[in-house]
Amino acid sequence: MSTLPAWRWPRTLFARLSLILCIGLAVAQALSFWLTLTERDDATRDVMMGYIEREVASSVALLDHLPPDQRAVWIPKLARRSYQFVLGTGIPGTPPGARLSKRVEEAVTAGIGDQYHVTANAVPGDRERLQVHLTLSDGTPLTIDMRPMPSIPLSPWLPVVLVLQLTVLAVCCWLAVRVATRPLDQLARAADTLGPDLKADRLQESGPSEVARAAKAFNAMQDRIKTYMTERMQILSSISHDLQTPITRMRLRLDVMDDIPESAKLQQDLREMEALVKEGVTYARTMHGTLEKSSRVDPDALLDSMVCDYVDAGQQVTCRGTIGTSVTTRPQSLRRLFTNLIDNALKFSGAAEIEVKRLSDEQVSIAVLDRGPGIPEDSLETVFEPFVRLEKSRNRETGGTGLGLAIARQLAQALDATLTLRNRTGGGLEARVVFNKLR
Ligand SMILES: Nc1ncnc2c1ncn2[C@@H]1O[C@H](COP(=O)(O)OP(=O)(O)OP(=O)(O)O)[C@@H](O)[C@H]1O
Ligand SMILES: [Mg+2]
Repeated sequence: MSTLPAWRWPRTLFARLSLILCIGLAVAQALSFWLTLTERDDATRDVMMGYIEREVASSVALLDHLPPDQRAVWIPKLARRSYQFVLGTGIPGTPPGARLSKRVEEAVTAGIGDQYHVTANAVPGDRERLQVHLTLSDGTPLTIDMRPMPSIPLSPWLPVVLVLQLTVLAVCCWLAVRVATRPLDQLARAADTLGPDLKADRLQESGPSEVARAAKAFNAMQDRIKTYMTERMQILSSISHDLQTPITRMRLRLDVMDDIPESAKLQQDLREMEALVKEGVTYARTMHGTLEKSSRVDPDALLDSMVCDYVDAGQQVTCRGTIGTSVTTRPQSLRRLFTNLIDNALKFSGAAEIEVKRLSDEQVSIAVLDRGPGIPEDSLETVFEPFVRLEKSRNRETGGTGLGLAIARQLAQALDATLTLRNRTGGGLEARVVFNKLR
C-alpha cells in the first residue's frame, strides 16, 4: 500500500503566511456564501408558502362560487408559475415524502383545510410534483397540480462577483504578507553583508513602528560590534607593535653575548616571538578590512609566480587548471591568502597541489590540496579561530602562531569568497576558496 507523503510546511514565511491567509479567507468566504444562500432560500420559501396559502384559498373559493360551465374558462387564469387547477380527480399516488411537498401540502391545508376535505399525493417524475385533491361544494372534483420551486435560480453574474471577491482577497493577502516579510528579508540581507570590514549598509529606521524598532536595534547592534571589533583590533595591533621594540633589543643583546650556552635556543624563541608579533599585526590589519586597492590582474600569472617562488625555494608545489581571464581583485590579499594555505599544506604534508576550476562565468574555485594527516572532523571549524593549533602540530618543526587560517578566512571574506576545509578521501586536507564574483 502506498503511503501518502507527510505534510510539510512551505519553507518560506511568505508562503506560510500566504497559505494560512488564503485558506482562512476562502473558507470564511465559502461559509458566508453558504449562509446567505440558505437564509435566502428559507426566506423565499416562507414567503412562497404564505402566498400559496392565500392564493389557493381565494382561487378555490372563486371556482366554488362559479357556475360549473364558467369554471373551465377561469381555470387557466388562476394558474400560477408553481401550480395550476385541473377539474377532475387527477393522478393517484403515494403521500408526498419530499420535505418541500409536505410544506406545500401544509400550506394548502392551512388555507382551505377547514372548508374542504383535502388529500395530497406525490406524482412520480423527474421533477418534484404533487397533487392536492378536494371536492367542491357541488360535488365536482378539483385537483391542484403543483410543481414547487426548490429555490430561486442564482443570478448569472454571481460567479463573476465571487471570482472578483477572491481576486481582491488574494491581492490583499499578498500585499499584507509582503509588508510583513520584506523587513525580515532586509534584516537578513543586512546581517549577511555585515562582514569583517564592518561596512554593511545601515537599515532605514522608518516604516511601521515594529519594523522601525527592529531596524534601530539592528543598527545599534552593528555600531556596538564595530566598536568592539575596532577596540579588539587596536589592542591586538598595539600589543603586537609595541612588542617589536623589546624583541629587537633582546636580539641585539643576545648578539653580543653569543658565548652563552643557551644562545641558540634563545635565538629560536625570539624568532618565534617575532613571527607571532608579525602575524598579530597582520591579523589586526586584515580584520580591519584590507585597505589594499583593487586592480586588474591576471590570476593565472599570479598563481604561477607563487608556484615558481616555492619551487625555486625547493618546495614541492604544483598547479593545474586556469581561470583564463584577467580579473579585478586585491592581488596582495590574494597572494597572502594562498601563501597561508600553501604554507600549511607544506608544513603538514611536505607538498601542495593547487587546483583551479571555473564554476560559472563569475564563480571560480581554487583549492589547495595535500596528502598530510588532515584535521579531525570536529575541528574543521575551530582551526579558523585565532591562535588555535591542534595538539599534533604543537611541536617545534611545525611551529606557528595559529593565526594563518584566521587571517586566510578574513582575507577570503574581504575578497567576497568563502574558505572551507574538508578532509580528502584517501587522506589529506582540501582548503577550498570559492570566489563568488570574480570578474
Ligand atoms: N593542511 C593541513 N593539514 C593538517 N592540519 C592542518 C593543515 N592546515 C592547518 N592545520 C591545522 O590547523 C591549525 C591552524 O592552522 P593555522 O594556519 O591557523 O595555524 P598554524 O599553521 O599552526 O600557524 P601559522 O599559520 O600562524 O604559522 C594548525 O595548527 C594545524 O593543526
Ligand atoms: Mg598556518
